[in-house]
Amino acid sequence: MISSGFRPCSLLVAATLTLLIIQAQGITRHYHFNVQMANVTMLCGTKSIVTVNGRFPGPEIVAREGDRLHVRVTNHVAHNMTIHWHGIRQLRTGWADGPAYITQCPIQTGQTYVYRFTVTGQRGTLWWHAHISWFRSTVYGAIIILPKRGVPYPFPAPHKEVPVIFGEWWRADTEEVMSQALKVGGPPNISDAYTINGHPGPLYDCSVKDTFKLKVAPGKTYLLRLVNAALNDELFFSVANHTLTIVEVDAVYVKPLTVDTLVISSGQTTNVLLTTKLLYPNASFYMSATGYSVDRPPAYFDNTTVSGILEYRNPSTSSFRKELPIFSPTLPPFNDTKFVVSFITKLRSLNTPEYPAAVPRSVDKRFFFTISLGTLPCPENTTCQGFHGGQYAAAVNNVSFILPSKALLQSHFTDQSTGVYQPDFPAMPLSPFNYTGTPPNNSNLGTGTRLLVLPYNTSVELVMQDTSIVGFESHPLHLHGYNFFVVGQGFGNYDPTTDPVKFNLVDPVERNTVSVPPGGWVAIRFLADNPGVWFMHCHFAVHTAWGLKMACLVQDGSNPNEKLLPPPSDMPKC
Ligand code: C2O
Repeated sequence: MISSGFRPCSLLVAATLTLLIIQAQGITRHYHFNVQMANVTMLCGTKSIVTVNGRFPGPEIVAREGDRLHVRVTNHVAHNMTIHWHGIRQLRTGWADGPAYITQCPIQTGQTYVYRFTVTGQRGTLWWHAHISWFRSTVYGAIIILPKRGVPYPFPAPHKEVPVIFGEWWRADTEEVMSQALKVGGPPNISDAYTINGHPGPLYDCSVKDTFKLKVAPGKTYLLRLVNAALNDELFFSVANHTLTIVEVDAVYVKPLTVDTLVISSGQTTNVLLTTKLLYPNASFYMSATGYSVDRPPAYFDNTTVSGILEYRNPSTSSFRKELPIFSPTLPPFNDTKFVVSFITKLRSLNTPEYPAAVPRSVDKRFFFTISLGTLPCPENTTCQGFHGGQYAAAVNNVSFILPSKALLQSHFTDQSTGVYQPDFPAMPLSPFNYTGTPPNNSNLGTGTRLLVLPYNTSVELVMQDTSIVGFESHPLHLHGYNFFVVGQGFGNYDPTTDPVKFNLVDPVERNTVSVPPGGWVAIRFLADNPGVWFMHCHFAVHTAWGLKMACLVQDGSNPNEKLLPPPSDMPKC
């Protein structure tokens, strides 16, 4: 007998209610990342690489929108380490963002740091990667954010979901590739292969067996969660004889867009639906990716092709047959900027009542940033291999960013910025020039650790302009802590009178990484509603290393829930 007024049915009601509340608020999911060395055999050789839990690519993180994540990262390798959750907004939790010396001191050998954050208002595919030096060449994995329980996708439910992560592989140790390049001031050696989920595929040496296979049944829809984890390249991707319907980019739903070939920049993610043929086709199909590059001659970028295989299960024998014909997709030429532009201008936010595009209509502050490659003077007694005999460098508004030796966020939070950073990042170029005209004779850039200070809730419009100083190139710019709307883009010099008229303020695509077109500009808008210090950089690792990076300091608002939270007690020390 149950006494004291308890009845089984009220217990049941209470339990159900608690469950509903937990579901609405999300749960806490725990992951353990052991950063450790592992041997990987690829392209006829074995290399010792830094991994998470000995896996390459690293483990998937799966969460639902609204969940809290606790990722305990322990560093067992002889290098400093940090992990970044690329695209996660980190609302008020900048301490968990991850870029070394921006939001945290690195996790030193033998140390542990628990990244704690909540996934708020995002669903789709994002990814995580090391954010120190070039370790992200092997330290990366997918983040899968499912909608809240009971909330459907705004597209037909797929039969299966499969992460497809593009990587970039060097036979040599990538830390050596980078330090060698920085020593002589020249470009780094290009990679030896692209990979899909860690496999280079049949077009490379010794790799026929090292091929990613997607085994499918006829007449089903698959959701491919694409991630471009390549260090220095934007990629074309296509599956022979099949179309791809894009339904989400950078963890934001888009209007379904069906294409034969898509473009994915370094750092970006794209969810696509692939519907298999109704009848068993008696053939297999390559799914291939190759580099897009503009001004760089093929010898200066990895012009190879990675292929995986889409393999149908024969419904009558229920087996996969090896000796079938294999079809290849036709990918655009490596420098097909026209194709790239027509593709990216077709991407639009879904913009429904459930998933509105909250584009800032009015602007409080306008900024104009030049995105340039250039040079720094060659150090004495060195012969530099960079442009004009200097060492290659890169800059935003002529400031080639120098990483401090203390973390910026900590310095800001404790009010100890002196000697660490200056809060005076230029809002526009100090001396304007014809950005896309004849290159100026002087290619030298300035240096500094300067931050752009934004009051809480500033509505920002930022135009980023490529320059001709060393040559046009496409630069995938990634902003931490935010999504932004891509309201406009074009070629040549941005015109502040005629171009804004053409901005799309209705359903522009919303993302965390956008390419500044070669010899052109892109305009983005966002509301600075996330206090903290947020890194913005070209997602090409080589350009980041050369200084194509800066940071925004977004100040606290006046309400308690508009302030950066205090740092966790286990913050690593420099
Ligand atoms: Cu995916 Cu700051 O990087």
